[in-house]
Amino acid sequence: MYILGIESTCDETAAAIIDYNESIISNIVISQINIHKEYGGVVPEIASRNHIENIYPLMDKLFQNASKKISINDISHIAYASEPGLIGGLLVGKNFCKGISKFLNIPLIPVNHLYAHLMMPFMFYKNIKFPNLALLISGGHSEFSIINSFYDIKKISHTIDDSVGESFDKVAKMLGIEYPGGPNIEKLAKSGNKHKFKFPMPLIGPKFNENSENYLNFSFSGLKTAINIFINKISDNNPKKIDNQTKSDICASFQQTILDILIYKISLHLVMYPHINDIVISGGVASNQFLINNLIDKFSNKNIYVPPLKFCTDNGLMISYAGLLLIKKT
Ligand code: KG4
Ligand code: ZN
Repeated sequence: MYILGIESTCDETAAAIIDYNESIISNIVISQINIHKEYGGVVPEIASRNHIENIYPLMDKLFQNASKKISINDISHIAYASEPGLIGGLLVGKNFCKGISKFLNIPLIPVNHLYAHLMMPFMFYKNIKFPNLALLISGGHSEFSIINSFYDIKKISHTIDDSVGESFDKVAKMLGIEYPGGPNIEKLAKSGNKHKFKFPMPLIGPKFNENSENYLNFSFSGLKTAINIFINKISDNNPKKIDNQTKSDICASFQQTILDILIYKISLHLVMYPHINDIVISGGVASNQFLINNLIDKFSNKNIYVPPLKFCTDNGLMISYAGLLLIKKT
């Protein structure tokens, strides 16, 4: 039994094959980063055209690089990321998989992209206890859930505006840092002073107490705006004038603010669920080593589980794995 999973929700065309025992047979990601870089962000129309161009070479590579000799005829189930995502990419993935499913007469399994991110840590760590607290931090979403089982997930809170990943990408853009902003900010922040600038932490403070509807929720748009105003102020509306050291200091201080917000909000959730000892973190931003290492330090009395770096950002394996979990449910 082999499960083929296809991911095409944003700017990665990716696929993986796993077997029923969760062994990875093949995993390939074709990133469109270099194409979208030119525009400073993902252009949906260009992304969908590239998914169409990439999907056949992706399949060739997937079978060529497989750890054992298999062909498309050996695939028993096909899973695809069905939502949420950019509509063009979703359509490419869905139609491609529908075609294979019809041709091979095998089940087609729609997989929610967020469910797939959330499940990724469970493929690599078999000792995670239920219920656990899940923090999903990606480019499109930032939210907390309680995972009672693979099939019982209760969303607790969410961002009321931007996601963490989006904030990284937008702050990078303001500073003229190349797309994708997240990893580039992390790199630059290494040579910056994280205490140099103090930025605001939205939805945190006495006003946002237990009685506030946003007590547990995130918000990042105010932080983004504050940094934008700050950048324009110190550069006389010409961010290009900002020297490299100041750029690094802004990156480091911004990243520290994100860390402080995450620590604060995780703590609030843990107060609500004091018996939870295990925390799973997933999504593209979970590949940020500064954030994760500091969270592990801060919550040293808890167990924090994060997928291996390359499986934090969008990939096909998370779709195959989530597909397998859904097969096992039925
Ligand atoms: O999960 P993902 O690949 O796609 C979505 O489902 O949205 O997440 C992509 C996001 C982007 O905003 C990217 O900038 C961010 O994850 N990201 C990072 C890092 N690597 C990727 N953010 C901060 N630090 C990183 N090292
Ligand atoms: Zn994602």
